[in-house]
Amino acid sequence: MSGRLSGRRAIVTGAGSGIGAAVALRLRADGARVFTADLQGEVDFRADLTEPDANARLVAAACQAMGGLDTLVPCAGISAFHPLEAHDDAYFLRVLEVNLVAVFRLVREAAPHLKGHGAGRIVTIGSTTSSFGDEGLCAYSASKHAVLGFTKSVAAELGPFGVTATCVQPGAIDTPMTAPAFEQMPEYKVFWENKAPLRRLGRPEDIADVIAFLCSDDARFVSGHGLWVDGGAMARH
Ligand SMILES: NC(=O)c1ccc[n+]([C@@H]2O[C@H](COP(=O)([O-])OP(=O)(O)OC[C@H]3O[C@@H](n4cnc5c(N)ncnc54)[C@H](O)[C@@H]3O)[C@@H](O)[C@H]2O)c1
Repeated sequence: MSGRLSGRRAIVTGAGSGIGAAVALRLRADGARVFTADLQGEVDFRADLTEPDANARLVAAACQAMGGLDTLVPCAGISAFHPLEAHDDAYFLRVLEVNLVAVFRLVREAAPHLKGHGAGRIVTIGSTTSSFGDEGLCAYSASKHAVLGFTKSVAAELGPFGVTATCVQPGAIDTPMTAPAFEQMPEYKVFWENKAPLRRLGRPEDIADVIAFLCSDDARFVSGHGLWVDGGAMARH
């Protein structure tokens, strides 16, 4: 298949739902081969990516299926609203494990394969809470700040090997992750719709289209960068 990602071989995690599913669809539409992973859904590799060896097994399976690897998009993540004092240790650590440690392990395992193609691409998923905090999101925001910092260091370290690393920072996107919060707190949904100058929630495709650009040759000189994709929400008071 021809397309701007023709010949690329990508791993997309969290591809059983929401943003990850949209990314897999979009990268394939642009001609990439995509190996998908998730806890659930119709994916190539089903696993809890916090299991210590899961990411090594994922990279091995993807390389075997596609004959190599040049693109990583780790979208798997979890979030929930908890006041600080309701964050027990297990919850806080679980959020860090899924949103940060599993991403670190995936990047570490994939790095040897990404080097040397001249077009290695890593696009992590931060959040507007990679730059700001919010009530009820102490664990989530800590994990997303960390992912942005991690991505910048990966960009510094792997850049000499032709690999770019960028962090997309979505605003409020309408997915199964946000649906329960918007249902329980309709005023929160209205807040985010109004905060964005574009006056709507984001859709998974809004994020997937930007990620496809960052994976392409058009973004060959973009690295170490966090990019808000939030309809302008964070630019506004
Ligand atoms: N929806 C938003 O408003 C929003 C905003 C900013 C950032 N994000 C980020 O975007 C990413 C995707 O979120 P989404 O909104 O599509 O959510 P989602 O819940 O629709 O999808 C997340 C997927 O990750 C998978 N997953 C969770 N834990 C896993 C684990 N341990 N192992 C393997 N897979 C696991 C889930 O099964 C699910 O399919 C997340 O990293 C999230 O933090 C979302």
